[in-house]
Amino acid sequence: VPSVRSTRRIPADAGIQRRKRPLPRGAHALIDETANRLRAFANPALDAELLFRGITGLSRAALITKGDEPVPETVKLRFEAAVVRRERGEPVQYILGVAAFWRDEFIVTPDVLIPRPETEILVESMATRLRTAPSPQILDLGTGSGCIGLSLLRELDAARVVAIDASEAALRVASRNAERVGLTQRIRLVRSNWYEGLEADESFDAIVSNPPYVAREDSASLPKDVRDFEPEGALFADEGDDLSSYRTILRRIDARLRPGAWVGLEVGLGQARRVVELVAAEGLGSVEVIDDLAGIPRVVLARRA
Ligand SMILES: C[S@@+](CC[C@H](N)C(=O)[O-])C[C@H]1O[C@@H](n2cnc3c(N)ncnc32)[C@H](O)[C@@H]1O
Repeated sequence: VPSVRSTRRIPADAGIQRRKRPLPRGAHALIDETANRLRAFANPALDAELLFRGITGLSRAALITKGDEPVPETVKLRFEAAVVRRERGEPVQYILGVAAFWRDEFIVTPDVLIPRPETEILVESMATRLRTAPSPQILDLGTGSGCIGLSLLRELDAARVVAIDASEAALRVASRNAERVGLTQRIRLVRSNWYEGLEADESFDAIVSNPPYVAREDSASLPKDVRDFEPEGALFADEGDDLSSYRTILRRIDARLRPGAWVGLEVGLGQARRVVELVAAEGLGSVEVIDDLAGIPRVVLARRA
């Protein structure tokens, strides 16, 4: 604060000049402004930060320490382009082309569902159960990005996975992810309508799936960014009601399970009890339901005797 006794003469236009020069905007300020622009979405501050960090490659810690440094113009332009896409509703993960899941970052394109944190419960519960199996053979039905099967391989050194999807485009993404995490040797990708593409006598120590579980008539109940951007084939159950994919998967499951093999199915809100009934009707035992962090029953586990 200048002393009131200061005799230093201040040029008459000094204030005007100072006002004309824009203050250097650091990342913090940019992210705050962006969060305000994205306030119509559920997590505006997180979206803004993830977009900024995705574009700059800055870690959280680096952002905290460098957050007041001026942001280069080129970065601002790329960030602005990303923010405009988010404003139109596109999910952050599609904008950045990657999604964090379990131990890795997975490539995602609009051909695959964005891996969800809830799905990690399926990975965790199945990895725990297979931990002592000598070399488990796992079937991942509806693999999408490959996130479930590849994450199980990360946990289980001697395991092998057959990953099935009806979508050729999704399998291309899963293949890129297998390369990215260095697991191509232990995963076989098969384009198939559920079990149809398997060898007649192929059976497994575990079958995992997060199948499409929304009935087409309920599409209006989906959040707009999910409905507008995620692939239909990943969202909507084959035909009929919301459980039709589970019925198809469970109807033929016995022939594909080795004695003592596990089944792990992710389920949607309000589906667990009905999926438990389907599982029990197939003669599977040791049925368990595991809740997600929000207390929603999320994974149905069962075992062949
Ligand atoms: C809900 S997404 C799950 C993707 C991934 N496993 C995950 O958890 O993020 C369901 C996947 O099942 C695939 N799918 C749908 N119908 C199928 C069918 N009849 N046979 C095989 N895969 C199918 C979709 O293409 C999609 O990739």
